[in-house]
Amino acid sequence: MLEKIKQTADFLRAQVADMPKTAIILGTGLGDLVDHIEEKTFIPYKDIPNFPVSTVEGHSGNLIFGVLGGKRVIAMQGRFHYYEGYDMKQVTFPVRVFQALGVDTLFVSNASGGMNKEFVVGDVMVITDHINLFPENPLRGRNYNELGTRFPAMTNAYDKKLIALADTIAEEKGIRLMHGVYVGVTGPTFETPAEYEYYRIIGGDCVGMSTVPEVIVANHAGMRVFGLSVITDLGGKDVTQVPTHEEVQQAAGIAQPKCLEIMKELIRRF
Ligand code: HPA
Repeated sequence: MLEKIKQTADFLRAQVADMPKTAIILGTGLGDLVDHIEEKTFIPYKDIPNFPVSTVEGHSGNLIFGVLGGKRVIAMQGRFHYYEGYDMKQVTFPVRVFQALGVDTLFVSNASGGMNKEFVVGDVMVITDHINLFPENPLRGRNYNELGTRFPAMTNAYDKKLIALADTIAEEKGIRLMHGVYVGVTGPTFETPAEYEYYRIIGGDCVGMSTVPEVIVANHAGMRVFGLSVITDLGGKDVTQVPTHEEVQQAAGIAQPKCLEIMKELIRRF
């Protein structure tokens, strides 16, 4: 694994002169952030040694190097989901490469179903914490001390200063910004009503199929993490609306301008 990470990092270093310290995983809600990145260099995943290739509709696969809010950034256009069949090491491989390149801060976004009754479709939620319900932890197996400690703390998995700054920005811009706990599950099924109720009872505000593996590895790597979740549908025993991929994409479109404003300004100021 260490050799593969090094090989990929060396490949990218050879293409990019000034390496960013900030990486962004452009999940749902942040796709259009690409248009705001200046001086862009696109590197398709298929051209990057050891990189998996993403398969889901609505996600394209490129690594983008450029400038956002005056800072150099690496953006992942398209991520690797566990439900696609990738194993945890593949899902989190890009984060390991970011670590090798010297990235110290990771921004992520995703779509999720809301269980918190105060949420409405199209809301944006700052992820303050998560519950890992994937059947596997990406750090399972041999630990490489070069990459991080065997038993990493997850107490401050999401950086409190970045959360506070996001709140300030949202207030300035008049954006309704919710806080909550993201429950990470494999999917690809959406939840049964009983499952949404269960995830609420155990302390979740929303549930989604990504992010948790990458955030675990980023924490292992000693990075600061900030995450936004777009509430694309609501779930629970009183909810009769059936979630669909199309509905998720549509709700994400509504939330996107809010996510963009917050992320852009956060990256400019942090
Ligand atoms: N459940 C899981 N993942 C999701 C959902 C959901 O309701 N909505 C968007 N991603």
